[in-house]
Amino acid sequence: MTFNSNRYKEMQYRRCGKSGLLLPAISLGLWQNFGDVDCYDVFSRTILAAFNLGVTHFDLANNYGPPPGTAELNFGKILKQYFAGHRDELIISTKAGYTMWEGPYGDFGSKKYLVSSLDQSLKRMGLDYVDIFYHHRPDPETPLEETMRTLDLIVRQGKALYVGISNYPPEKAAEAFDILRSLGAPCIIHQPKYSMMVRTPEDGLLDVLAQYGVGCIAFSPLAQGLLTNKYLNGIPENSRAAKDSFLKKESITHELVVKLQALNSIAESRGQSLAQMSIAWLLKDERVTSVLIGARNEMQLLDSLKSLDHLTFSPLELSEIETILAK
Ligand SMILES: NC(=O)c1ccc[n+]([C@@H]2O[C@H](COP(=O)([O-])OP(=O)(O)OC[C@H]3O[C@@H](n4cnc5c(N)ncnc54)[C@H](OP(=O)(O)O)[C@@H]3O)[C@@H](O)[C@H]2O)c1
Repeated sequence: MTFNSNRYKEMQYRRCGKSGLLLPAISLGLWQNFGDVDCYDVFSRTILAAFNLGVTHFDLANNYGPPPGTAELNFGKILKQYFAGHRDELIISTKAGYTMWEGPYGDFGSKKYLVSSLDQSLKRMGLDYVDIFYHHRPDPETPLEETMRTLDLIVRQGKALYVGISNYPPEKAAEAFDILRSLGAPCIIHQPKYSMMVRTPEDGLLDVLAQYGVGCIAFSPLAQGLLTNKYLNGIPENSRAAKDSFLKKESITHELVVKLQALNSIAESRGQSLAQMSIAWLLKDERVTSVLIGARNEMQLLDSLKSLDHLTFSPLELSEIETILAK
């Protein structure tokens, strides 16, 4: 496969915390739209288009699909079909932490679960190692020490180059970083949900990450599609809300649509789509290493990537956005 020879000039790369790793400002996640229920031709085109524009980072998890596991299987097929000779240009991540198989060993944060799960993920993707392995969510019962020691072990075994954590609140994240540091494990990244509409990381997490020199990759930056122009006039067929599963139809309230319309007007005045402005809004903070988008097709991906053309905001734009969101 011949890729666009200008691909690395098309993208901006940002250092992940204080590590040696550079990530693209926009990364592509395979949570939705890459499972066996989706169309192989459509999603392989999305991945090829992303790589052609310098998106080097693809984010997976054991349970992505549906059905669970099929996003990794499909990604493995795409790697084999199109990416021979390009493995060293890719940053591939996977995770374990949510329910993956039946019984007491297929969920949460035990050593048994994490080691088995990563072995399964590597097999599904046809890889010897992943670049980043995450613990996907905190486990209230397994000692944190056990989970973190397992991340360290996985790096020592050569099955991951770096490790990360996801969905950890600030205090628990700091505790995890302290343990990993004491073990010498390369924990370089945290993956929180963060968008103009979901601001939780601003309550301490971003400060903790800066303090520990850990990067931040923001997931669901478009609030699963709410922060795009698609719900301005109802719920279109094929949209995530129409499926009424991870994004509920009832969440598209009149009050929300009024806010989205106001945000869309600001985006238009900046010469951007609402999706582009929402991604740019996250990237204005240097503590955000990368914005982890989803895309149902190549068209959405290309639209979102254009956000890089205009990343700065005037103080007036920022305060207007805050006023709309605070209503
Ligand atoms: N660590 C975790 O716990 C966790 C949890 C969730 C996600 N993630 C990661 O974050 C990634 C992204 O999550 P997400 O899919 O929720 O992200 P998102 O970017 O907020 O939402 C993606 C959805 O927005 C719509 N969309 C995207 N670009 C668009 C555009 N330019 N114009 C109009 N609509 C557009 C599409 O929805 P339609 O299908 O409706 O068209 C698309 O499926 C996941 O793939 C995964 O890697 C991690």
